[in-house]
Amino acid sequence: MYRTNTCGELRIENVGQEVTLAGWVQRIRKMGGMTFVDLRDRYGLTQVVFNVENDAALCEAANHLGREYVIQVTGKVAERTAKNPNLPTGDIEIIATSLKELNPSLTPPFTIEEESDGGDDLRMRYRYLDLRRPNVRANLELRHKMTMAVRSYLDSKGFLEIETPMLVGSTPEGARDFVVPSRMNPGQFYALPQSPQTLKQLLMVSGMDRYFQIVKCFRDEDLRADRQPEFTQIDCEMSFVEQEDVISLFEGMAKYLFKEIRGVELTEAFPRMSWADAMKYYGSDKPDTRFDMKFVELDGILKGHGFSVFDNAAYIGGICAKGAASYTRKQLDALTDYVKRPQIGAKGMVYARVEADGNVKSSVDKFYTQETLREMASAMNAEPGDLILILSGDDVNKTRKQLCELRLEMGRQLGLRDKNKFSCLWVVDFPMFEWSDEEQRLMAMHHPFTHPKDEDIPLLDSDPAAVRADAYDMVINGVEVGGGSIRIHDSGLQAKMFEILGFTPEKAQEQFGFLMNAFKFGAPPHGGLAYGLDRWVSLFAGLDSIRDCIAFPKNNSGRDVMLDAPAALDQKQLDELNLALNLPSAE
Ligand code: AMO
Repeated sequence: MYRTNTCGELRIENVGQEVTLAGWVQRIRKMGGMTFVDLRDRYGLTQVVFNVENDAALCEAANHLGREYVIQVTGKVAERTAKNPNLPTGDIEIIATSLKELNPSLTPPFTIEEESDGGDDLRMRYRYLDLRRPNVRANLELRHKMTMAVRSYLDSKGFLEIETPMLVGSTPEGARDFVVPSRMNPGQFYALPQSPQTLKQLLMVSGMDRYFQIVKCFRDEDLRADRQPEFTQIDCEMSFVEQEDVISLFEGMAKYLFKEIRGVELTEAFPRMSWADAMKYYGSDKPDTRFDMKFVELDGILKGHGFSVFDNAAYIGGICAKGAASYTRKQLDALTDYVKRPQIGAKGMVYARVEADGNVKSSVDKFYTQETLREMASAMNAEPGDLILILSGDDVNKTRKQLCELRLEMGRQLGLRDKNKFSCLWVVDFPMFEWSDEEQRLMAMHHPFTHPKDEDIPLLDSDPAAVRADAYDMVINGVEVGGGSIRIHDSGLQAKMFEILGFTPEKAQEQFGFLMNAFKFGAPPHGGLAYGLDRWVSLFAGLDSIRDCIAFPKNNSGRDVMLDAPAALDQKQLDELNLALNLPSAE
């Protein structure tokens, strides 16, 4: 038997017991004739004491241990004289009577403690050591708790967990596919699923009624803090449902998860916001509603006063930062620089402070009378002590996005984005299509299987851009944690959708014939949703990046620096796969 107890479980009531522990040496301290070893495992940390007066040879052996050595220690549990209230085992220590070195360790490249001295890249290269750090491990424990809670909730609602294949054909969802060459079918490729969307719909045609899967999805897209090339969805689909049924079941699941994982009881129904309002008031389809600071359109008030920047703008929008009139010139210049960064791309920023007497002092005072400025402040519900920030531009959507970034930054600076506060929201009534400049055609905003709103179906021919979809996203604290829709279950309507999306009937048949054919065999009305597991876990754990809740994540260039993947294939493998490379020559 390697151990009688873990390093996290012994307490004052165990004093006097003989125990054997096994784990990793976190730290060694020598004090006089005593050597103290902090022994760590997944469950915690226990102090082990080697006393030269008890056993000089044993103490000498302990002095030769190094950090991260794996050892087994037997000894007696004793009450500590100097207790450590910060440690669950801090009332006791083990007076060692024997020590066995199970495996030595090289000196780790960074300290394996809560606050590591290792940089990102180094920690990722030695991720197995990084995972020994209690805070990183806690994220994986939370993730485990989440998946257990998800399974328990969905099982209680009659969902079946069904696996779908990883080697599939391509399903366009707006990202590029990762592809896998087939050796047995020369020149042909599988695609890794961007999501099991069409397969779960086929399971509905099969009569499975309620399906879920905690499933890896793969998307070759630009990476960000909340995006990984492979990530995990809690993917769900239900038959004989309308939008309201899906929203209600998954809102129930969200509340269940909040309660189980965070101990937060959410009793109110989640608010709903139309996509159009989200864009109008927040410039984003995933607004952070932990704070207000809604956009106010100021075109009507600020145009036509001789300030050419505003006079020529297609959109002028402002936000009111409560109590921020004390912002200094330096702070305002920094904010201007912030919105002018190439990633945001604003041309400039206008500000106005509401002073104690109600007077408004702005950076464009020479163009506006006090009366106009006061009218503006009143339109924005700005009061003395408030700061008004205004952006304008010749593209409405672009300017709104810039104002969205400014709003988020102000929210951050004013401490309004508290990680322990949760603001949940359904964004509904998405447009069915969006125009793609790159493709020069309409694209499905969610995916081509989304059902248009019944009342908008007549617009499919006359004004497709105005058609809204039975689609919904769940947004928490400005993060899209899930999205779904009611699906088309009629092969004719599905064919029409492909036509609007620019598919020839032949192309639609070639790519999606399997689905449209299945719809001809009695497809039930159905709909569903997929939650992003990584995003939920990082939200609950208060993480800045979903990477921290993934055991072996990719870096921002999509690399696994530990496995050194992706990597070149040797010629033999390329030959077997009938692949020839056509790499751009190095200049
Ligand atoms: P969607 O593309 O909106 O919908 O994805 C569902 C949820 O998955 C999460 N997510 C991601 N998480 C991490 N990294 C990524 N690269 C990433 N991409 C998406 C988000 C998102 O809300 N088949 C549909 C679902 C449906 O209609 O049922 C789909 O995949 O939290």
